[in-house]
Amino acid sequence: MRIVLLGAPGSGKGTQAARLREALGVAHVSTGDLLRAQVAAGTELGRAAKAVMEAGQLVSDEIVLGMLEARLGEPDAAAGFILDGYPRNVAQARALDALLARLGRPLDHVIQLDVDEALLFDRLAGRAAAEGRRDDNPETVRQRLRVYAEQTAPVIDFYAARGALKRVDGVGTIDEVLDRIMAALGKTAVRAG
Ligand code: AP5
Repeated sequence: MRIVLLGAPGSGKGTQAARLREALGVAHVSTGDLLRAQVAAGTELGRAAKAVMEAGQLVSDEIVLGMLEARLGEPDAAAGFILDGYPRNVAQARALDALLARLGRPLDHVIQLDVDEALLFDRLAGRAAAEGRRDDNPETVRQRLRVYAEQTAPVIDFYAARGALKRVDGVGTIDEVLDRIMAALGKTAVRAG
């Protein structure tokens, strides 16, 4: 199964993608995680991306697409994937269409997690306190939300226009949200206990 998970910063994409990876046996492909790994490793790409990420802006489409293509070629993605954090603008959505057409692996589902802005701030403030992610300070969160509204919200319209988008309420416990996503995928959540 090949899925795009859309949603604002803090909407729960990473949290839910990790659960979906377990539930569906597909790869969790987070462009944010891939970029943070490059930053941590001090690669040339990571050095180019670091300041852009800390400013809450988008890293260049070309860099992210190259990274994504390499990741989709890894063995765990053969069974399918959940894209978390990609596409983030309409140019990336078109590039993804072209890449997946070339690979003969079109998308099956596009899910958008809906969470209101006040709760996004609360969640990211919680994570800032717990984990100290450098782009979770209030000023950068505001900038990330601006970038989301200006550049990523049109991606929602892009997929909605082709009838491919399913909206899921992202407010509730992690299990409740997972159940809603699984229902939107036409699956039943199975969990231990
Ligand atoms: P990225 O890492 O993708 O960050 P983001 O989209 O801002 O997403 P977050 O990780 O903040 O939120 P999330 O929706 O994954 O929520 P999470 O599950 O973590 O990107 C970072 C940067 O990298 C970008 O700003 C950009 O610079 C660059 N980048 C990445 N992709 C790019 C691309 N394609 N093109 C260009 N640049 C790119 O949850 C958040 C918190 O809430 C956690 O603490 C979690 O525990 C908690 N939480 C989650 N669900 C619930 C729940 N149901 N109830 C209570 N708490 C919850």
